[in-house]
Amino acid sequence: MNVPFLDLKIQYNTIQEEITSALQNVLDSTSFAGGPFVEKFEKEFAAFCQAGFAVGVGSGTDALWIALLCLGICQGDEVITTPNTFIATAEAITFCGAKPVFVDIDEQTYNMNSDLLKGVITTKTKAIIPVHLFGQPADMDPIIKIAQEHGLFVLEDACQAHGAEYQGRRAGSIGHAGCFSFYPGKNLGAYGEAGAVVTNNAELAEKIKQFRDHGQAKKYFHSMIGWNARMDGFQGAVLSVKLKHLPAWNEARRKNAKLYNEFLADVNKVQTPVEADYAKHVYHIYAIRTKKRDVLMSGLTEKNISCGIHYPIPLHLQDAYRSLGYTQGSFPVAEKCAEEFLSLPMFPELTEGQIEAVGKEIKLFFAQ
Ligand SMILES: Cc1ncc(COP(=O)(O)O)c(C=O)c1O
Repeated sequence: MNVPFLDLKIQYNTIQEEITSALQNVLDSTSFAGGPFVEKFEKEFAAFCQAGFAVGVGSGTDALWIALLCLGICQGDEVITTPNTFIATAEAITFCGAKPVFVDIDEQTYNMNSDLLKGVITTKTKAIIPVHLFGQPADMDPIIKIAQEHGLFVLEDACQAHGAEYQGRRAGSIGHAGCFSFYPGKNLGAYGEAGAVVTNNAELAEKIKQFRDHGQAKKYFHSMIGWNARMDGFQGAVLSVKLKHLPAWNEARRKNAKLYNEFLADVNKVQTPVEADYAKHVYHIYAIRTKKRDVLMSGLTEKNISCGIHYPIPLHLQDAYRSLGYTQGSFPVAEKCAEEFLSLPMFPELTEGQIEAVGKEIKLFFAQ
């Protein structure tokens, strides 16, 4: 059976009329850069995240970079995050002139191990970026406690966690600000590039709003040196349509994850994802772990089951970050996970038959 890793077309087919009409509205109003469709989405998304404000920007990378800049992170500062994330988390730190400092991850949740934070905080540390990897929030309480003790900002990288919850609170609304990506494959994906910063701090929201629009408070009145990082009108309109469906799509992902867990429960060479007691996981990625990852992946590919690896090389071992001076062995848990992670097909419209087929092939593989 053919099981794609992700199929955006199936989902588009279910909302085609709503999308076409939303896009037509943008065409009719010619509000292409920023404008009312973005503003409408910002209000809706802030409410969805249980936050005071959302500011639409060009991508998740923009969201992280601009949020850090507007929090005042600059040359000479250090920002702590994990090496088990997409490179954009660290790039945003680097492009503020600051230095990424990594801590290892927790072996159950694959998120920041807060026990290790105190060991890397220096006088230069200004912020912590927990990444809610795969759709499961990091354990925020201990992170926030340590941040408060040391006067640090907490910026949530919620780029994979739209609608995820930490003790009933929505991801992105817990720290000083939260950053989202609406890259097309995300749980809430645009039809192009887009991102947002969410915060309860009105002053920070206003600063980010001005920054993303060349630092202007009013047309051609520039109160600061900013950048062009506006969300475009088509993306705002598409995201408003899709946001209405997100709760149902997240529930479908959770159901799919439960089915995978059941099908794989008796395969003892496979570790299925663990949903922490504090969390509502939204399974952007359903990653299993196995020591036979590469052979299993080839076997599944031969059977037309597409898988992914998130991520094959932790950031501290990437060529791009060699200058930080970390080596193999610096973060043993992240390194082990990178060798063992295998992301199985996951999207809301996966059928039970497809999930069963994937489960069967994995069982057959380990029975040989
Ligand atoms: C954890 C994480 N952070 C940041 C980003 C960057 O988002 P974007 O691709 O929208 O720039 C992504 C997107 O893949 C991500 O998964």
